[in-house]
Amino acid sequence: MTRPAPKSFHVKSFGCQMNVYDGQRMAELLEADGMVAAQDEGAADLVVLNTCHIREKAAEKVYSDIGRIVKRARAATGDVPMIAVAGCVAQAEGAEIPRRAPAVDVVVGPQAYHRLPDLVRAAGEGKRAVDTDMPAESKFDALPARRRPGPSAFLTVQEGCDKFCTYCVVPYTRGAEVSRPWGAVMDEARALVDAGAREITLIGQNVNAWTSEDGKGRPQGLDGLIRALDRLPGLARIRYTTSHPNDMTDGLIAAHGEVEKLMPFLHLPVQAGSDRILRAMNRSHSVASYLAVIDRVRASRPDIALSGDFIVGFPGEDEADFVATLDVVRAVGHAQAFSFKYSPRPGTPAATMADQVAPEVMDDRLQRLQALLNEQQAAFNAATVGRRTDILIERDGRHPGQRIGKSPWLQSVVVENDAGIGEMMTVDIVSAGPNSLGGVTPARQAA
Ligand code: 5AD
Ligand code: SF4
Repeated sequence: MTRPAPKSFHVKSFGCQMNVYDGQRMAELLEADGMVAAQDEGAADLVVLNTCHIREKAAEKVYSDIGRIVKRARAATGDVPMIAVAGCVAQAEGAEIPRRAPAVDVVVGPQAYHRLPDLVRAAGEGKRAVDTDMPAESKFDALPARRRPGPSAFLTVQEGCDKFCTYCVVPYTRGAEVSRPWGAVMDEARALVDAGAREITLIGQNVNAWTSEDGKGRPQGLDGLIRALDRLPGLARIRYTTSHPNDMTDGLIAAHGEVEKLMPFLHLPVQAGSDRILRAMNRSHSVASYLAVIDRVRASRPDIALSGDFIVGFPGEDEADFVATLDVVRAVGHAQAFSFKYSPRPGTPAATMADQVAPEVMDDRLQRLQALLNEQQAAFNAATVGRRTDILIERDGRHPGQRIGKSPWLQSVVVENDAGIGEMMTVDIVSAGPNSLGGVTPARQAA
């Protein structure tokens, strides 16, 4: 069955920052192909669900989302939009998706989405459009130039993972660890700044394992890239995420103390506080080696805010192991963190390990861990009250005349101000809540 070519699209991204980035690139690709972005999914001829497979029953969520889109469209206009499933569920489930959900027209994996316009055309001609290849050619070379990135932009520099933590699907859905070349990254950074970005967050599943050769053929790590970006006129701030403790090189740690534009914030997942569990997770670092890295980072940049990811209820985790995780959180004093219940992922080694932890035990541990993390986050926020700092204005606040910016430590700061989006401004932090700070411009405070 042929159907008219879609004129408008809506991309909905779930999960990590890399999916946010991929979603923006898919939108740019569809625009370059002549389509226009619709306000919401109800107004779009093509809906792209950019999915996440990392935890929970993500695949099930995709199917219920598809059902909801179809039902809503039938009730509203009778015309069901073309539906494309992208991202890691697409990679993991492939052709199984249209078998289970016949309303799905296109399935495209994270390494093949540069072919999305062609797949949409093929689907319009009634052809099967499933593409979960991990092609040798880089999708990045086939993507159009960056447009309207906003003041704070993501830039993917590295994808995939070779570490094979036993709970994680990333090595399977995103493939082997690949670094984008120096020149491509620098070109994209320049394009982002030219299009209005003031802050760039370098992203990758193992971003601190990034390597390339610079224009003179010299080997470079992430610290070299950060130092080159530091010299880019118009760029005010640099961040990077997500990192592995084993890849925190001396150079990168030194950069935290030396590169002014590199923000004092580090997301460095440790996952668990017990060496026995870290071994079972195949993390290839110990609690002590992680803490030693943290000490060195702090020596280099004393005011750095530390963030992390934690998993509770990994198979075999007992109460003593869990308490060791709480001890690590206290020892480091994380300023923020993400914490999850272990979720068995099909095809990963941990899914079939003995001693899976009971759901109610996981619930209890997650609650206790999150209570501690929230307490520490509130304390960290409270400690910024009284500081004068720069914020980058990113969006309007909830009330008229309010703007929301980010502090160097990645806290949201609400100010009463008519500063433009993308402006850097100096504020005094005057109040702190659990999730945001209040700031005033120094002149106003004095008045
Ligand atoms: N179950 C729970 N959490 C997981 N993560 C990755 N895989 C799983 C899983 N199977 C978490 C890790 C990782 C973050 C992105 O998601 O903490 O750092
Ligand atoms: Fe997953 Fe471990 Fe690789 Fe992170 S380092 S992406 S948790 S396998």
